[in-house]
Amino acid sequence: MSFPITRHRRLRGTAGIRGMVRETVLNVLDFIQPIFVTYGTGVKNEIGSMPGVYHFSLDTLKAEVDEIASLGIPAVLLFGIPETKDAIGSSGFAEDGIVQEATRLIKQWYPGLLVVADTCLCEFTNHGHCGMVHTHTVDGVVHGDVINDASLELLTRTAVSQARAGADIIAPSNMMDGFVQAIRSGLDENGFEHVPIMSYSVKYASAFYGPFREAADSAPQFGNRKTYQMDPANLREAIREADSDVLEGADMLMVKPALAYLDVIRTIRDQFDLPLVAYNVSGEYSMVKAAAQQGWIDEQAVVLEMLTGMKRAGADIIITYFAKDAARWLRG
Ligand code: PBG
Repeated sequence: MSFPITRHRRLRGTAGIRGMVRETVLNVLDFIQPIFVTYGTGVKNEIGSMPGVYHFSLDTLKAEVDEIASLGIPAVLLFGIPETKDAIGSSGFAEDGIVQEATRLIKQWYPGLLVVADTCLCEFTNHGHCGMVHTHTVDGVVHGDVINDASLELLTRTAVSQARAGADIIAPSNMMDGFVQAIRSGLDENGFEHVPIMSYSVKYASAFYGPFREAADSAPQFGNRKTYQMDPANLREAIREADSDVLEGADMLMVKPALAYLDVIRTIRDQFDLPLVAYNVSGEYSMVKAAAQQGWIDEQAVVLEMLTGMKRAGADIIITYFAKDAARWLRG
């Protein structure tokens, strides 16, 4: 059937009919709100490149968590800025580490709010890489790379300490080979066989993480992350990464970043049936905030359109710094 019998505009005439035929609907239950927790007391510092996102010390954290819980957001994702860093990131797996302490507090305040722990070492190492490194210096310039298998042991210790503190979900973001298997065995051996792994399966070496590295103080001190995070040009490799994670026991898959990778989200959705998470990363947040502050775009409309696009592409869950705003806007 074609024009004039077919008229697509018939289903667009009113808000009522547009609502009735809408294929993708955002829900507050889709969102995970990231939180940056830091050492010290009385800290609530806005992150320069991420207006509206703050560092909280443990004593200022409650008000933020109250707000998240009252908006009905089901989960938070914790990142920690430790007081001390060393070569192996030991503050990342300390029983009294900043993420572990924050987890205990949040679970005490809101037992039903899901705490997702990001399992990585880059916030805790003095070199800013996501695992242990081997380095050598040539003409005063440091070269080096992350050692895969030795790092797995440290990452597993980190995950186990996070689970012991009460984390509901372990989200390893380090991109070492075999990290899901290593962490799964570590969790199981320590009695946490019920704790799911949300794997950062498909994580690209992206310039969109720039503002996060300011927020988490985790920029690599030499080199970059291209030997462990994926080349942004690759799609088939994303399938291989996800495949490995499924075989190793991942419970959920993730694609990160989201906005420039909607084709990847769609591909992973079509090929795998695990719940799929999209990470709407820091640079995606900052770009929108900057343009909105200039009055160049309508922030609310743009954010809801972006998040809807991620869900339409196939994401079930979205990690976003806009979670609180979006939850408010969805309430109307
Ligand atoms: C840790 C980690 C990063 C992000 C989440 N976990 C940074 C990185 O890989 O450099 C980025 C999140 C964001 O940009 O919002 N490895």
